Amino acid sequence: AGSAPVVIAIDGPAGSGKSSVSKQVARRLGYGFLDTGAAYRALAWHALEHGVETADAASVLDVLGEFDYAISLDPDVFWVRVGTSDVTAAIREPRVTDAVSGVARVPAVRESVNDLFRALIAASDRAGVVVEGRDITTVVAPDAPVRILLTAAPEVRAARRSAELTTQDAAAVAAALHRRDAKDAAVVDFLTAAPGVTVVDSTDLDFEQTVDAVLGVIHAGVSEQ
Ligand code: DC
Repeated sequence: AGSAPVVIAIDGPAGSGKSSVSKQVARRLGYGFLDTGAAYRALAWHALEHGVETADAASVLDVLGEFDYAISLDPDVFWVRVGTSDVTAAIREPRVTDAVSGVARVPAVRESVNDLFRALIAASDRAGVVVEGRDITTVVAPDAPVRILLTAAPEVRAARRSAELTTQDAAAVAAALHRRDAKDAAVVDFLTAAPGVTVVDSTDLDFEQTVDAVLGVIHAGVSEQ
């Protein structure tokens, strides 16, 4: 085993391009990629599977005990498993998206999930791991050598989401995104950069430009060490 992997911490709201950009940055660097939102989604799926009312914190904590979860850190081969079920597709279903804020809002859940993240990162055999979420720069990896908040104007984020979800009406997508931002922001403040966190605003950047901007911040940050 070599030394502990370098952590690149990236936070941001839905529709900022966070997941796709982080994954591409990981590929370019030969690093691992950890989508922490996918873990919260997997836990929400698990809670729904057990018939848990996700608004009820005590019941969510009950099923956390038997949450047997595995996630790929390979940016080229993404999968998420809970027990023997492959939930890679299921965690994107609207019923899971609706339930996830309820699960993520429980402090004891966050502590437990964060321990899992730190263990996953430490076990990676790559030189680094790009970790993306909402509280990576502040809670999961506040000591990471590179910490980035990826933002974009709300209307641009809504437009990107609706391009992804071609089956849904643009106004409905914007409304859903807004509702989710409000729910998520009540849990962690992902719209303000903590001290020492570099903001990358992707409002006027396309995908490749955003990837390059993030890589620029990483190169500056890592060489400072
Ligand atoms: O990024 P995403 O949409 O897959 O995230 C799913 C949910 O998990 C979202 O409602 C916010 C929450 N989340 C969180 O609270 N903390 C994280 N580090 C990552 C995601």
